[in-house]
Amino acid sequence: MADQIVPVKPQVASSAHVGSFEQYQKLYDESVLDPQKFWAGVADRLDWFRPFDRVCEADFHKAEVAWFLGGKLNAAYNCIDRHLAARADQTAIIWVGDEPGNYTHITYRELHDQVGRFANVLKRYGVRKGDRVCIYLPMMPEAVYAMLACARIGAVHSVVFAGFSADALRDRIVDADCRVVLTANEGLRGGKTIPLKQTVDDAIAAIPSVHTVLVAKRTETEVPMSAGRDRWLADEMNQQRAYCPVEWLDAEDPLFVLYTSGSTGKPKGQLHTTGGYLTYASYTHELVFDWHPGDVHFCAADVGWITGHSYIVYGPLCNGATTVVFESTPVYPDASRYWQVCDDIKATIFYTAPTALRALLRFGDEPVRKGARDSIRVLGTVGEPINPEVWQWYHDVVGEGRCPIVDTWWQTETGGIMMSPLPGATPCKPGSATFPLPGVQPMLVDDQGTELKGNGVSGNLCLTGSWPGQARTILNDHQRFHQTYFSTYPGNYFTGDGCRRDEDGYYWITGRVDDVVNVSGHRLGTAEVESALVAHDYCAEAAVVAIPHEIKGQSIYAYVITGAAAEGVAAADVEETLKQEVRKAIGPIATPQRVQVCSGLPKTRSGKIMRRILRKIGEGNYDGLGDISTLAEPQVVEQIVAGHKAGVGGQV
Ligand code: WT7
Repeated sequence: MADQIVPVKPQVASSAHVGSFEQYQKLYDESVLDPQKFWAGVADRLDWFRPFDRVCEADFHKAEVAWFLGGKLNAAYNCIDRHLAARADQTAIIWVGDEPGNYTHITYRELHDQVGRFANVLKRYGVRKGDRVCIYLPMMPEAVYAMLACARIGAVHSVVFAGFSADALRDRIVDADCRVVLTANEGLRGGKTIPLKQTVDDAIAAIPSVHTVLVAKRTETEVPMSAGRDRWLADEMNQQRAYCPVEWLDAEDPLFVLYTSGSTGKPKGQLHTTGGYLTYASYTHELVFDWHPGDVHFCAADVGWITGHSYIVYGPLCNGATTVVFESTPVYPDASRYWQVCDDIKATIFYTAPTALRALLRFGDEPVRKGARDSIRVLGTVGEPINPEVWQWYHDVVGEGRCPIVDTWWQTETGGIMMSPLPGATPCKPGSATFPLPGVQPMLVDDQGTELKGNGVSGNLCLTGSWPGQARTILNDHQRFHQTYFSTYPGNYFTGDGCRRDEDGYYWITGRVDDVVNVSGHRLGTAEVESALVAHDYCAEAAVVAIPHEIKGQSIYAYVITGAAAEGVAAADVEETLKQEVRKAIGPIATPQRVQVCSGLPKTRSGKIMRRILRKIGEGNYDGLGDISTLAEPQVVEQIVAGHKAGVGGQV
């Protein structure tokens, strides 16, 4: 089934740009033949205060990338002001609150006024061009206002997903040297409250440089307010006027940083810049989702991730779309929530992650059929490979065979979608992200870096040549940026993903080839989880691997060697304590499924942990361990297998 081609449905409205596969191929060929000309044309979609002089200067050997040089613009102006003449009364944002039936429509005029007030509040508290501002807000309109308010005055936002722990938040605030933090008293999700202000208090207790915390009020709950530091956002906004002049920025001035996990070390602050990022987010939003004026674009992600940045905020608003801010979960109050919302707001485009679909699939077809879903035209997925069965269910049951599915492959670092079918143009194969978008040049290489040409090959996925949406650096660490992405296969950007190009030229992402784990579409570095574990006295050494998980795609499996402090403590208690430790250090998403206590780890004679073996054992595949003769102590493998078989607390 996986390799069957699902033909294009001719009844589907064709993209504004690309109406057939031949047209896609023609556009693609043109785009890579003369990228400068192609991207200059694409960048015309923005309003430039001053036109750019040069399109692109990129050197992948040096990790130096710049687009639209000399150009000046402002992202908030492009997302708001330029639409006012024609769309002031059109809904810009539909806020879907946690409680069913709680909808708020915000027009472009209202968005303009709120962002202006917010920007003036930021200025009042000393925020200037280039300053970093931390946004730790739940899915409420204020999160979007905050991002655009920063953009308006040239401040650089650093949105931290509101599910991260105080420790993780503190690290990000410190790394970006944020002096102002934006949060809410509480979050509300799936009927449960989340103590966001409390988390901020814990995170910044020892960071005196944070002088201002602006607090939005999501619930009626009182929270302690530290005099002189904490202020209610609504009171502050009421004291400001709606007009806030726009700061004209250089195309290469930073727009935001967003932290991602890598295979080593602490999270990396990916820095995206104004002109290139905005061009790319808005172009890909229109192209991939076949966006037309009047569409209601429902991306169910969180603004704490790049998907929310590009396809809730910047892409849709730059195009003058109606975008959705969804506060709830796919299963609250029941598994029909997405489809009820789609009906209520007449969503035409719906975008979610395979993990959410897998969770919903368990409830069967009935909750889906509770909704009519007849407004939906395009369905999308992102974040991880989609299993062909899940793809088929999405297509047949959710889309009733009417809607094209766009399986979009991209990364925080790419800023926007890189590979995807185009609705109404690309014949799909369930589970394949199909083909690169115009201007995107994938290349597969073997481990030695030799290019794998032709079809029917499998290797490491690189990108040759720059595209406007790519991250420019890691905040405060350009050396690490170079090292991580441009040194493995010199002259090319290395994605960290494995990929197959099949006999027909379709691309199939096979998952990460580095030590990055993808739990429910969230990216976590095994090294990060390992440091969280060894920070506790109970743990002397840790090795973390990913194992397959039915709903989450992958889950975390940790092997630990205990320290002296754990002497006499039952293995089950060690396991529970260490799980809590990871939760505290990173957040609930990083909690290991199991922490197995072992007496040793499988290491080569040079001391390298053989994760391949640990992965196999973690998934219960004891026979496929391969050659273990090169291990320093081959007998530890048997002990680890026995511990795995014994289950929780089964120390051997
Ligand atoms: C990693 C990037 C892009 C926004 C959400 C995740 C995996 C992403 C797909 C897809 C297979 C995918 C890759 C990639 N990934 N989309 N359609 N098919 N894998 O962003 O947290 O930066 O993670 O997610 O492994 O490298 P991210």
